[in-house]
Amino acid sequence: MYKIVKKEVLNSVVVMMEIEAPYVAARCEAGQFVIVRVDEDGERIPLTIADFDRERNTVEIIFQVVGYSTTLMAKLNEGDYLQDFVGPLGQPAPLNKEWKRVIGIAGGVGAAPLYPQAKKLAEQGTKVDVIIGGRTAELVLLKEKFEKFCDNVYIMTDDGSLGEQGVVTKKLQELLDAGVQYDHAIAIGPLIMMKFVVALTKKPEYNLPTAVSLNPIMIDGTGMCGGCRVTVGGETKFACVDGPDFDGFEVDFDQCMKRQTFFKEEEHACMMKLQA
Ligand code: FES
Repeated sequence: MYKIVKKEVLNSVVVMMEIEAPYVAARCEAGQFVIVRVDEDGERIPLTIADFDRERNTVEIIFQVVGYSTTLMAKLNEGDYLQDFVGPLGQPAPLNKEWKRVIGIAGGVGAAPLYPQAKKLAEQGTKVDVIIGGRTAELVLLKEKFEKFCDNVYIMTDDGSLGEQGVVTKKLQELLDAGVQYDHAIAIGPLIMMKFVVALTKKPEYNLPTAVSLNPIMIDGTGMCGGCRVTVGGETKFACVDGPDFDGFEVDFDQCMKRQTFFKEEEHACMMKLQA
């Protein structure tokens, strides 16, 4: 059992939990994830590690309350326990020490998995700029945490309630058109956001290599079930063992988006049960 040592409600739909998990804390790297189960009968929830503290033996997860299992998890409090906290799973993000300047682009809760990658790059001596997007000011995450080490933090909101009004690709295009030289981009957020970021960075005039982090439906998280398969460069890959980070230029986003809707009806039935 894994103790929740800290819980913070970041906004109306997003919760941060710091979990006492010595094994994971000792071994995890930026980009890796864990699979969490709230109780014995619980669904397996894959969550990318948002931060870790090797001295305190803790790992931070940030999740959006989107369905039955995350609703149950959000009801837990400091001092409660999670049934399972398996990891670290997946490959560490390939963060090249040679990169001089990198742009991170996050949408909504995607700021959480971007954070450890951006932090590690900054520790390696890479200049990091980030663009964080959210529908409203309330949904923009981790601004202050990024500001501690990033050179520039740009905020974009749909309604202009924080930063500038518009989508993350608007700011990205502005920066690229202004001639800011980046060696690499890392985009993490909704599939549709990552698709549009890549559509921009892939243009011949920019040709900016872009990593994306995929979070498809997962079951075992060890490459056995095939549930998390994605097509990258025309080949089938398993996000849980080959990823979750992939070359965005090669990802079939349309297929990912189609697969993401597979269990919509079952999820709806579970939510009804919870509300009954
Ligand atoms: Fe089963 Fe990846 S979750 S193969």
